[in-house]
Parts: sequence; C-alpha cells; structure tokens
Amino acid sequence: MMKPELFTKDTTAIIYGYQQNAIQRMLDFDYVCGRKIPSVAVIVDPGREGWHKAFFGKAEILIPIAPDLKTAAAKFPGTDVMINFASFRSSYSSTMEALETKTINTITVIAEGVPERRARQIAARAKELGKMIIGPATVGGIKAGCFKIANTAGTIDNIVESKLHRPGSIGFVSKSGGLSNECYNIIARNSDGLYEGIAIGGDSYPGSTLLEHILRYEAIKEVKMIAVLGEIGGTEELKIVEHLKKGLIKKPLVIWVTGTCAKMFSGGVQFGHAGAKANSDIETADAKNKALREAGAVVPDSFDDYGDKIKKTYEALVRKGVIKPAAEVIPPTVPMDYAQAVKEGKIRKPTSFINTISNDKKEELEYCNVPISKVLESEMGIGGVIGLLWFRRELPPYARKFLETAVMLTADHGPAVSGAHNAIVASRAGKDIISCLASGLLTIGPRFGGAIDGAAQNFKRAEEAGLTPAQFMREMKAKNVPIPGIGHKVKSLTNPDMRVELLKKFVRKNFKITPTLDYALAVEQLTTQKKGNLILNVDGCIGVCFVDLLKSCGQFSQKEIDDIIALGMLNALFVLGRTIGIFGHVFDQKRMKQPLYRVPYDEIAYMTELK
Ligand code: ACO
Ligand code: LMR
Repeated sequence: MMKPELFTKDTTAIIYGYQQNAIQRMLDFDYVCGRKIPSVAVIVDPGREGWHKAFFGKAEILIPIAPDLKTAAAKFPGTDVMINFASFRSSYSSTMEALETKTINTITVIAEGVPERRARQIAARAKELGKMIIGPATVGGIKAGCFKIANTAGTIDNIVESKLHRPGSIGFVSKSGGLSNECYNIIARNSDGLYEGIAIGGDSYPGSTLLEHILRYEAIKEVKMIAVLGEIGGTEELKIVEHLKKGLIKKPLVIWVTGTCAKMFSGGVQFGHAGAKANSDIETADAKNKALREAGAVVPDSFDDYGDKIKKTYEALVRKGVIKPAAEVIPPTVPMDYAQAVKEGKIRKPTSFINTISNDKKEELEYCNVPISKVLESEMGIGGVIGLLWFRRELPPYARKFLETAVMLTADHGPAVSGAHNAIVASRAGKDIISCLASGLLTIGPRFGGAIDGAAQNFKRAEEAGLTPAQFMREMKAKNVPIPGIGHKVKSLTNPDMRVELLKKFVRKNFKITPTLDYALAVEQLTTQKKGNLILNVDGCIGVCFVDLLKSCGQFSQKEIDDIIALGMLNALFVLGRTIGIFGHVFDQKRMKQPLYRVPYDEIAYMTELK
C-alpha cells in the first residue's frame, strides 16, 4: 500500500531525459530549503554516459549521466523517485520500466498526449504495485521545504514569495499545473503556507486522483487542512462528496470546481484539459460545487474568494490551537546566473579582449565594418583585405596593388634560402605541414626576410633628419649595425634582383612621391662601391617604398606611419608572402616522398680541437 508521505528532505530523484533547466531549478530549490544533499541523484540520457555540471548554491557539482534506467537505479538504490521527461511516444515504456524497478516508488510523467489506453495501463499497474504515479500531462508537485518536482512553482523568486522553502500546514491538489502555481501563492498569502502540492495532470485518466491525494493528506499529521481545485467534467469530485459524507475526510477541506462559466456557452464547452467537459448535468462545475458544499466542504462562491475561504478556515484552526503557524524562515539567496544577471543589466564585467578589425557576431561577417559580400563585390583584392584588417581602412587602388605586389614578389626565392631550406628539411623529417611552415618561418629575422621594418625605420629617419648617405653609413658603421635592407648573398650590381627592379618600376609609376626610395638608392650608390652585393635588397625596397606609400596616400599621419612601422607590419608582409612559397616547398617534398635529410660530412668542418 502506498505510504502517505511521498517525499522527505532526503528524497533524491532519477531524471529521465536530459532536462538541464529543470535540474537546475530543482537544485536551486534544494539550496533555498537548506537541503544538505541535491535532490537530483542521476540523469538518464538514453545511450549516453558522462557528467552534468550544475550549481548547488554557489558551488558547482557533477551529476552522473547514465545510459539507461537500469544502470541509474542500480547505481542509486536509495533513490525512489523518477521524473520522466520522455516524450508521449516513449513515456509509456519508460514509465512501465520504472514501475517494475523495485527501488522506484513514485513516478511523475510529464508528457502530454500519452494515449488514454497507455495511461490506464500505467495507472492499473501502479495500483497493483502500490506505487504512485503523478501525471501524465503535469508539471508535478512540490513538498515545501523538502522536494520539488522539476519546474513546479516556477522561479526561485516565486518559490520564496510563496513560502515554499519551508513547510506550512496545507495539503493541496489540483489537476492543473498552472493553477497549482497560482494556488500556492494564494495559500501562502492566506495561511502559513503549503505543506505539499500535487498537480495530477489534466488527462482523462491520471495515474493518481484528487481523492487519493486528499486521503494521503488526511493521513499526514502535519497537514492540518486540505485545499483542492477541481474541474468541470468527470465524477472525481463526487467521490470526494461520498468520502465527506462517510466521514473519511475529517480535516477541513476548501475546494472549488473550476469551469462554472461553461453554462454561458450553449452545447457545453471543452476546456483545456482532455477531461474538462461536462457530459452530463452532474459533471458541471455548479453541480459539483453544490454537492461538495452540501457534504460539508468549504466551497467559495467563486474562484475569486477561494483565498478568503482558505484564510477563514486557516484562522479558525489557529484559534482552536490546531495549527501553530509555521515560523518564517529567511532562505539563503540563490546567486543569479551570470547570463541572467547580464541580461537583466544587473552586473557588468570588463571584457578581456578588444577587437577593432572584424565582426563575426552580425548576420554577415564584416572586415572593419565592410560586409564580406561588399569586400568581394568591390574587387578590392587581397590588398584591400590587408588594408581593412591590418590598417583598418579602405586603401586606394595603387596602395592595394603595392601590397599585393609585395606579397607576390616575396612568395618564394627558391629552395636554397633559409626559410625554404628549414621547411624542406622538416618536411623530409616527416613533420606535418604546419610544423614545416613554422620551421621555415622561424628563420625570418634581421638577416633574412625580417629587415623590412628596420629598413623603413632607418632610411626614413635618416632621410627625414637630412643625413647625407655618407653620414648615415658612418653612423650605422659606428654602431656596428649592418644597414637593414642592404646586401644580398647572391644578388648584386652585376646580378640585379629582378624583384627589386619590378617594385621600383611600379612605385615610380604609381606613387606621387618617393623620397625614402630615392634616399635608399643614394645609399646603395655608396655601399656598392664597397662590395657589389651591398645592393638595396627586396626587404629594403619594400620597406622604403612602403614608407613612401604611407606618406603619399594622404590617409596616415606622421605618428600613424611611425606606429605602423614600429608595429612590425612591414615584416608581416614578407611572412605573408613567404608562407605561400614555404608551403609550396613542403608540398613539393611530400609529393616526391623525399627521405630524411642528413647533412653530408663534406658540408661540415669538424674542428673539435678548437680552443
Ligand atoms: N650594411 C653595411 N655593411 C654591410 C651590410 C649592410 N647591410 N651587409 C654586409 N656589409 C658589409 C659587412 O660589414 C662586411 O664588411 P667587412 O668586409 O668590412 O667586414 C661585408 O659587407 C661583407 O659582410 P657579410 O655579412 O659577409 O656579407 P654577406 O653577403 O654575407 O651578407 C646579408 C648578406 C646577410 C644580407 C647582409 O648584407 C646583411 O645582413 N644585410 C642586412 C640585413 C638584410 O637586409 N637582410 C635582408 C636580405 S634580403 C632577404 O632576406 C629577402
Ligand atoms: C629571399 O627573398 O629569400 C632572398 O632575397 C634571400 C636570398 O638569400 O635569396
């Protein structure tokens, strides 16, 4: 036989179906009730194992996820409640499985639309086993201060406002979950609050009836009065009338049958719940309210004074000393979830990053406020994209073309240079393409590919300072610093670097002014007098032309130009271009399946005796 009490402060539940919000609401209820252990023991997410992280007050806890009910029940034999979130299609089988699970005594079936035949089978089996079914088509119920089924009673604020964080003296049952939440509040405002409230669900064949819960409350000594909300349709309330007449319900019963407005509609009216339609006169709300009143229940004249009847009944019990009003308890505050607090504008958090170049949060990706579709339609090319993402502006066509030219000219310079060589060796060592690229790029520095910024800085400074080329050379020599952008291992006056020639030609044709290039070429005149390979190399040419570009396009202040150079953007151009060539060499080696490379001895001078 089902014991009257379904829940205690130590009740734990199996949650069938991964309902994260419902789980968190249960845990938050536990916290405001001062429970020591969470009411959710385990989650069944069919076919899946793992852990669910949730808040228990301020702390985070892990709740196990089991792949099936059998595993969950075996792992938590002390858990005797299951809240079944399965859909109407699978709630029958999962509920029947739960009924056959010895350790489970109370099952709430949340799903709406469970076929009536299935609902009746579930109810019948539960009766045979002496187990409790709440639902189908319910939000569940709540035992104040002890245990809450899923989303019953809504938010924590409502729960505390309805005094549900500690037990009162009234047992409540209704069909409707929504009206139940309303009634919890009415009860809280007109008494010392709810002891327990159950919504049996609005289907025609609920797993448990209004009367069964009334009789449970009759048997629980802490319940001093009972409140019920009935509904038009069916004869459940007439059974309550019979029990009242037989004296089987001794505690004061305040009850209202909703649906009295149906009489205003000719031909009857079907209310929300499946069973909410009077098929005969005795099933009307008026008839049932009248019969209940005559049987001794406290029946208000309308739902409007339902709360008042509760109040008067409650106060009478207090006067008689039957009820010692429950003491008020100040619950702990459940911290607001971060996302909710941000949404409500209750907290603010400094951002950790600032981004000014692109926006992927809009419907269409934007580069510096230019929608990607416009980037393509405008045919701004990779030079234009560099302008937007590096310089945060739309550059004029010749500037875009210069950038693209620099990228194309620096893409590769054969397998012998440092970057290509390292990448080739890494590739032949079997490394992945990213590692090969990295090994090649890591050779870029003051002597190879990384002299663009230095060339721009030094030649711009010297030119703007009015140093003669000879003075500039002496100054750098005195600092023992090779002039960045001057010199090449294989290119020279007699073997000019065509890339440099092409770049100079482009610049002469497109740039309004080229003071820095002219200055660098004057320096080259002197350096090549010393050695033919001390030419303006491709790093140097890109660097000085870039300075002239920034000066000539009129979009950059002097300070912005200095900042751009100081930022290292110019060397980035070489890296961007050379990445193309390095990948080319890596793919080339992998395509040819080249073996591990080992430097031949005749490439190495062994001079271990060197002191
Ligand atoms: N400025 C002034 N003098 C120089 C420079 C320079 N940039 N480069 C070489 N010299 C001098 C040396 O001081 C040396 O003089 P010394 O004989 O009186 O001692 C002489 O020229 C030979 O020097 P080396 O370093 O042996 O010449 P090397 O041909 O090996 O150097 C290199 C080539 C590494 C590019 C060198 O010129 C240099 O470091 N340049 C500056 C960095 C630079 O621009 N690198 C980019 C190269 S292009 C690219 O990587 C895409
Ligand atoms: C390059 O672009 O890699 C070269 O200028 C350097 C070199 O040694 O050829």
